[in-house]
Amino acid sequence: MTRIFFNEVVTRDGFQIEPNFIPTDEKIALIDGLSECGYAKIEVTSFTSPKAIPMLRDAEEVMGRITRVPGVEYTVLVPNLRGAERAMESRADEFNLVMSVSETHNLANLRMTREQSWASLTDVVRYVDGRTPINVSLSTSFGCPMEGDVPQAEVLRWAQRFAGLGVRGLSICDTTGMAHPKQVAQLMETLQQHVPHIEFTLHFHNTRGMGLANVLASVQVGMTRFDGSLGGLGGCPYAPGASGNMCSEDAIHMLDAMGHDTGIHLDKLLQLARRLPQVVGHDVPGQVAKAGRITDLHPAPSCPAA
Ligand code: COA
Ligand code: ZN
Repeated sequence: MTRIFFNEVVTRDGFQIEPNFIPTDEKIALIDGLSECGYAKIEVTSFTSPKAIPMLRDAEEVMGRITRVPGVEYTVLVPNLRGAERAMESRADEFNLVMSVSETHNLANLRMTREQSWASLTDVVRYVDGRTPINVSLSTSFGCPMEGDVPQAEVLRWAQRFAGLGVRGLSICDTTGMAHPKQVAQLMETLQQHVPHIEFTLHFHNTRGMGLANVLASVQVGMTRFDGSLGGLGGCPYAPGASGNMCSEDAIHMLDAMGHDTGIHLDKLLQLARRLPQVVGHDVPGQVAKAGRITDLHPAPSCPAA
């Protein structure tokens, strides 16, 4: 039985693509509920420009008002030095820096070339100076909706550069659901071999229905950390065709059924997932919240009279 660690990203990646502003109180209530479910980490919000991501313009207030449960790490997305200063002020437990392995997506999402992002993120690492652990999310690591294939060697090159800066972790992100299981296994084997002493997290989107298969492929090559989004919400507003993250409760349900230890209280999580359509105002893609767990039994339909 493997211990698997989940990072819940619904209030960051999940909400950032939603068209209607979700009230701050709703975000806080949801995060406080998630904190009771046994997550290793929760990505609460992002300290990006409020013009770029208006949904998360209340980042300071959310970070200030959530109830922090000991043992849960509260991480935030940080795109630049200004974001890092705001994150430091809010006492985030981890800074999740972001850049894209694809030049075109980096320009669209962050309005910087990759080298400009590298320079900016290097400044962030210097500014943080070991006070807070740093994770770097490498977007479009499995393919870019504008450039197509992203060579494995490029992902390796950026992973090695950031490892050289002394970051704690790297998230290998499939921003628009282009990864397939064989590719996932190959890339993660390569990264583990050539970039030791780094905590790798897998970040999948289920855009083409390959999310759970990719989780399984990752576990089979020894990966133990995953991002997931409640209800399968999410997507990057600056990546054409982006849609839902891998659904947390569906992945956790599968791994639990296989005998892995996710540390998650699935019944509590399913209650939150069932309330989510009310919070966002529409149906959500997650399946287990609708179908119930495989252990939920139903009464036999009564037979018609002969
Ligand atoms: N927090 C708050 N405001 C910020 C900011 C931050 N981290 N970074 C920049 N700004 C503000 C500046 O103060 C400036 O404000 P002004 O117009 O009132 O003077 C404005 O944004 C423009 O600043 P500039 O340095 O020119 O940045 P930019 O407009 O090129 O934006 C990013 C760069 C990275 C901040 C922006 O593209 C961004 O936030 N992108 C979001 C990426 C994202 O979260 N994508 C989804 C997740 S992968
Ligand atoms: Zn994502």
